[in-house]
Amino acid sequence: MCGIVGAIAHRPVSPILLEGLRRLEYRGYDSAGLAVLDPDGKIGRLRTLGKVAQLSTAHDERPLAGTLGIAHTRWATHGEPSTQNAHPHMARQRCALVHNGIIENHEPLRREQMAAGHVFSSQTDTEVVVHAIHDALAAGHELAEAVRHTIARLDGAYALGVIDTHYPDRLVAARQGSPLVIGVGFQEYFIASDVFALLPVTNRFIFLEEGDVAELRRDRLSIWNAQGERVERPLRESSVAADSAERGQYRHFMQKEIFEQPRAVADTLEGRLSNEGVLPEAFGVDAERIFAAAQAVTIVACGTSFHAGLVARYWIEALVGLPCNVEVASEYRYRQHVVPKDSLFVTLSQSGETADTLAALRIAKESGYATTLAICNVPESSLVRESDLVLLTRAGPEIGVASTKAFTTQLVALLLLTLTLARLHRTSIGDQADAARQTALLRSLPAQLERVLALDDEVAALAEQFVEKHHCLFLGRGEAYPIAMEGALKLKEISYIHAEAYPAGELKHGPLALIDEDMPVVVVAPNNALLEKLKSNLEEVRARGGQLYVFADDQVPFQADPGVTIIRVPETDDLIDPLVFTIPLQLLAYHVAVLKGTDVDQPRNLAKSVTVE
Ligand code: F6R
Repeated sequence: MCGIVGAIAHRPVSPILLEGLRRLEYRGYDSAGLAVLDPDGKIGRLRTLGKVAQLSTAHDERPLAGTLGIAHTRWATHGEPSTQNAHPHMARQRCALVHNGIIENHEPLRREQMAAGHVFSSQTDTEVVVHAIHDALAAGHELAEAVRHTIARLDGAYALGVIDTHYPDRLVAARQGSPLVIGVGFQEYFIASDVFALLPVTNRFIFLEEGDVAELRRDRLSIWNAQGERVERPLRESSVAADSAERGQYRHFMQKEIFEQPRAVADTLEGRLSNEGVLPEAFGVDAERIFAAAQAVTIVACGTSFHAGLVARYWIEALVGLPCNVEVASEYRYRQHVVPKDSLFVTLSQSGETADTLAALRIAKESGYATTLAICNVPESSLVRESDLVLLTRAGPEIGVASTKAFTTQLVALLLLTLTLARLHRTSIGDQADAARQTALLRSLPAQLERVLALDDEVAALAEQFVEKHHCLFLGRGEAYPIAMEGALKLKEISYIHAEAYPAGELKHGPLALIDEDMPVVVVAPNNALLEKLKSNLEEVRARGGQLYVFADDQVPFQADPGVTIIRVPETDDLIDPLVFTIPLQLLAYHVAVLKGTDVDQPRNLAKSVTVE
C-alpha cells in the first residue's frame, strides 16, 4: 500500500505530483509528502499528517519549485501516522526517497547504521534505505549504482523513487514485490504505483519487472534487471480515460461504483458469449484442453475476492462435479498443502497486486498445479503477468476502498468458468439446450441489476434503523451464505458497525445467544431449495425478540410483521441470485455509512491495494 509518484520534466513537477497523489490516495491516506529539487540545487520537502488535501494546502502556502521530484501518500505499517514518519525520507539533506512496501531486515540495518553515526528521524522501516543509499553515494557510486548496491542488502518488498542533489538530471526507481510503472512523456518521464496516477500526463507506460532498477533522465530511460544487465521493457498504451477515475455526479466513488455494476457486468460478458454458451476462446487458446483435463479446482484470494471464490465453490461442485477448495491467501501461503492431481489453481483479485495472493500464486506454481488462472481487474498487474491463463474482469478502475463492482464482475467471471468447465466435463448443465438458456440468463444480468438498483430509496430509508446499532448479524444458506459474509464485510468496513455472517443453520450452535431487540439480523433469502430450512432459522430469531430484515425474492411468502421487515428483491434465476442479492447489501452498507458520516471511500485504517503482508 502507500502510493508513489515521481517526475523529471522541463516543467514544474509539483502540480503533477500532487495530482498523482490525489489519484493514488486510495492506496493510503494517513499522511503525505513531496520533495522537489529546487533551482538552487537543494531539496525542498513538505510533509503533512492526514490526506493529500492537507498537503496541497500546505503547498499553496509554501510552493516547491523545480522540475525533478518525488511524492508519497502513506498507509502506516512501521511507526504511527505522523509528519515525521511521512515520506519522503532524507539523508543528510543530500538525497530523498519514497518507498512502498516493507523492509523486513530494517532492524539489523538500523543498528548497523546507528553505530556508523546515522541519526534517525522516524520510526519507519524505510529510513534505513535512504541512509544506505547515502552511504553508497558517499563511497563513490553513481545514483543508480548506489540504489542497486543498497537493494542487494534489503529483504522484503519495495518500490522506490530516489533523487539526489549531486545528480539533478536523474530520478532512479526500483521495484521488488511492490508495483511500479514508468510513464513516458515527450522529454519527460514519470514513475507511479499505478497508471491512474499518471493518466493526466501520459497514456504510454512501461511496467518494471521484479528486481528492475530504472534511471530516468529527461531525454533517456535505462533499465537494468535483477542480474544488473541492461534490458528493454515493452512500451504499452493504456486505453483507460483520464476521467475514468473521477467521481462525476455521485457523492462518493463507492456510490458511483455500485451504480456502474450493470455496465461493468455487460463489459465483462462482452465478446465472451455466443448463443451456444461461453465462447471456447474466452480463457485463451489452450484453456479448453487444460480445463477438460482438470480434476479439481483450488481458489485462493483475500477479503471480498475470497467471498466470490466461496460462491464459486457451490457452483463448481454442484454444476461441474469437480472438488473445489477455497482458501484465504494469507493462510494458504503458510501451510503445508496437498495438491490434488491435475488441478487448476485460480486466483481472484481486483488489484492483482495483493501481496498474499501473489505469494500464494508463486507457491502454487512451484508445488505442481497443472495450470494457474488469474481472474483480475487490472490487465498490467503482477498477478496477470505471472499466471498461465487470465480472464480479465472489466469493471474499470475501482477507487472506493470497499470493493463493489469488482466483486460482481468476479462472480460473472466465475460463472463463465463454471459453465465452461460444465460443458467440457459434459455435465447436464453443460449440454446444448441448457447453454442457450444460460447465455440468455447471463445477457439479462445487466437489466436485472438495474432493476435491483431501483431499491436504492427503500434501502436508504431502511438504513436509518441501523445507524444507532453497534452489532449486526447476517444470515444466509447455500450460495447466499458467502453473500451474507460479503454484506457483513461491507457494513463493518465502512460504517464501523460490528457485523458477522453465519450460515443460518449454525445459529443454534452459538450465535443465537447474541439475539435480543438491539441485534438487527439481516437475512439473504432467495427463493431456492433451502428456503424452508431458512424459514425455521428465522423463527428461532423471532422467538427471541430479534429484529429481522429479510431481503427476499418477490415470490417468497414472507409476511412483514412487527420485528420483521421484508425488502422485496426482483425475482431471478437461482444461478444469478448471488449477484442480484449482493446489490441491496452494498446499498445498505453505503447508506448506513453516509448517515453515520464516516469516510465512505477511505474508511479508517484501510487501504485499497494491500501490497504488503
Ligand atoms: C473489501 C475489500 C478487500 C479486498 C482485498 C483483496 O471491500 O476491498 O477485502 O477485496 O483486500 O483485494 P484484491 O481483490 O485487490 O486482491
